[in-house]
Amino acid sequence: MKPILIALAAAASLAVAGAASAQSGPDLFKSKGCGTCHAPDAKKMGPSLKDIAAKNKPDAADKIAAALKEGKGHPKVAASDAEIKAMVLYTITGK
Ligand code: HEC
Repeated sequence: MKPILIALAAAASLAVAGAASAQSGPDLFKSKGCGTCHAPDAKKMGPSLKDIAAKNKPDAADKIAAALKEGKGHPKVAASDAEIKAMVLYTITGK
């Protein structure tokens, strides 16, 4: 019984690790098309990542993520809460 539990726990933690790496901010930012409107240093349709980082602190990420999710003053973002937060943190911290 015990070895089975350990194997299950190991499999579960692998699954979690996989999900976490799939949710990295920079990858999501690319795959969700944010780069269409946001470039690293140049203003496109939206502000550059540099401007977003200059204007916002990481602790504002939750608030901004909520606004992006609702689509208030911004094209609505279709992603999970965790994904949106990872992308917003990336725009602010570059990570
Ligand atoms: C169709 C163009 C467009 C796309 C696509 C887009 N944005 Fe934006 N974004 C804007 C514009 C315009 C603004 C400036 C208005 C505003 O702050 O809401 C902005 C602002 C922002 C801000 C700053 C908000 C603030 O309060 O300072 C963040 C963060 C952001 N976008 C993240 C994202 C992310 C993450 C994605 C991808 C899921 C994305 N954007 C996709 C146009 C876009």
